[in-house]
Amino acid sequence: MSAIRVLPELLVSQIAAGEVVERPASVLKELVENSLDARARAITVTLDEGGVRRIQVEDDGEGIARQDLALALARHATSKIRSLEDLEGVASMGFRGEALASIASVSRLSIASRSRDAAHGARIAAQGPALEEVAPAARAQGTTVTVEELYFNTPARRKFLRTEATEFGHCDEAFRRVALARCDVAFALRHNGRASRHLRSAPLAERAAALLGEEFVHASIPLDAQSGALRLTGLAGTPQAAKPRADAQYFFVNGRFVRDRVLAHAAREAYAGLLHGERQPAYVLFLELDPRGVDVNVHPAKTEVRFRDSRAVHQFVLHALQRALAPSAAQAPIAYAAVSHGAPIQSAFSLAQPEAAYQAFMNSAGALPAAGKAPPLGYALGQLHGVYILAQNEAGLVLVDMHAAHERIVMEKLKKNLDAGAVQAQKLLVPAVFQAQALEVAAAEENREALAQLGLEVSVSGPDELSVRAAPAPLAGGDICGLTRDLLREMREYGASQVLGSRQNELLATMACHAAVRAHRALAPAEMNALLREMEQTERSGSCNHGRPTWYQLSLPDLDRLFMRGR
Ligand SMILES: Nc1ncnc2c1ncn2[C@@H]1O[C@H](COP(=O)(O)OP(=O)(O)O)[C@@H](O)[C@H]1O
Ligand SMILES: [Mg+2]
Repeated sequence: MSAIRVLPELLVSQIAAGEVVERPASVLKELVENSLDARARAITVTLDEGGVRRIQVEDDGEGIARQDLALALARHATSKIRSLEDLEGVASMGFRGEALASIASVSRLSIASRSRDAAHGARIAAQGPALEEVAPAARAQGTTVTVEELYFNTPARRKFLRTEATEFGHCDEAFRRVALARCDVAFALRHNGRASRHLRSAPLAERAAALLGEEFVHASIPLDAQSGALRLTGLAGTPQAAKPRADAQYFFVNGRFVRDRVLAHAAREAYAGLLHGERQPAYVLFLELDPRGVDVNVHPAKTEVRFRDSRAVHQFVLHALQRALAPSAAQAPIAYAAVSHGAPIQSAFSLAQPEAAYQAFMNSAGALPAAGKAPPLGYALGQLHGVYILAQNEAGLVLVDMHAAHERIVMEKLKKNLDAGAVQAQKLLVPAVFQAQALEVAAAEENREALAQLGLEVSVSGPDELSVRAAPAPLAGGDICGLTRDLLREMREYGASQVLGSRQNELLATMACHAAVRAHRALAPAEMNALLREMEQTERSGSCNHGRPTWYQLSLPDLDRLFMRGR
């Protein structure tokens, strides 16, 4: 075996570069983070050929003193931390002091900079192991780092680069992440001489609209939750903002974009039961906590973190998101109603009539609601084609998809029941009997307990016959046989424990669907009003179990616009 040698400095940097500088997008990220650490207010990123030919980042930050230029390029040289204590509470984006050295080892890199009190700017260039002499440069305060010909001296690496379009796509995504994280800073992105993005410093909603689309912002709920030293802010997409792919999920921890299993899991759980099938939630969320509570020094690229108390973080994020996503219909209009600008609500239309009728009905029924304040979803006017309920509330007209709304109400009821142990069962006056196959009979016998937990009492009443003697209370009156058949099939396919565990939401949705009022069933006004009142009290009733909206508000100004009144 040959003798052990210390590797030359350049090779050491090139090895390190393997981890930090995966592709042009990683260079972009490192350089922009340096600009942010230097407190830049405006940052311009210029790319040529997807960043492979050139990546330039220009900022108006603090700049680098002439005598520090060479040090900035040295390995393990940083101005950001000095001690282990600093490392453990690090608040800057960088701290390892190796990005510039690594990038310089695999490209042609130059820095031009001018610090605040310097009379002139200065420039340094590196090519492989050698640094050129520092030369004067004319420029304003701030720093420009230019990286050209990435991997020109490491052909093996160069081969891994994809097409220009793909590399630009990665760069754009890296840009989007930092730009979302810092909406207080202005950003510009240019590619091949053309302006690609231009973002002024603006509130998060404006920044998110520019980067992720207006639709996302319209269909999301702003959130700000705090518990002790933990704070969660940002925009949580409603089910209407969900996407077929998980490509609009941005989680930042202390301003740093991260991919973290704890956070991703908390978000998935918060959205469970709200989204249809394989739809993926969209969100931009910022978690802030004491830097001492999170270790960012897990990987050189710093997209992984480790929380000191990951359980507390998980619970906090889960509950904060659930709370934001679960307002009952009473508070939901932001997400579904067209936002009406200006024009005050006309008082000519009064709520008195339907309210009086309702009060009269409730009086005769012996249950008087709190008088005075009109309920948010108002009072039913009638049924449209057996599908929609029309109601009048303070703001105008409310349209409800009665089947979808009822389904959601039943589902939430069942869920509450199940969370408390078991679904409430109700004895049936006449058992529901149906023909069953041998496999169904066997499944009914095997899963007696699980079925009981779901509020179903099923017994074998013949070699190919099952009887249901009790059914879930919220479902009585629904299609009991169809429901029992569906549940038996689910239990055969997935096993009772899965059905009650990880498939619980599907299970509840199945049950709710069998229970919910069918379209084309005529409802009496009292039944319609009862449904509206239940919607107001039900969490998440703004969207059905499949993520579609359950109701819409058409305000009087909306209607006025429709008829071009007051023009
Ligand atoms: N845009 C910039 N403005 C001011 N200083 C910079 C800039 N980029 C780099 N530097 C200086 O160069 C040093 C080395 O940068 P880098 O290799 O990225 O390591 P780190 O960011 O981990 O400190 C930084 O600590 C900082 O002092
Ligand atoms: Mg850095």
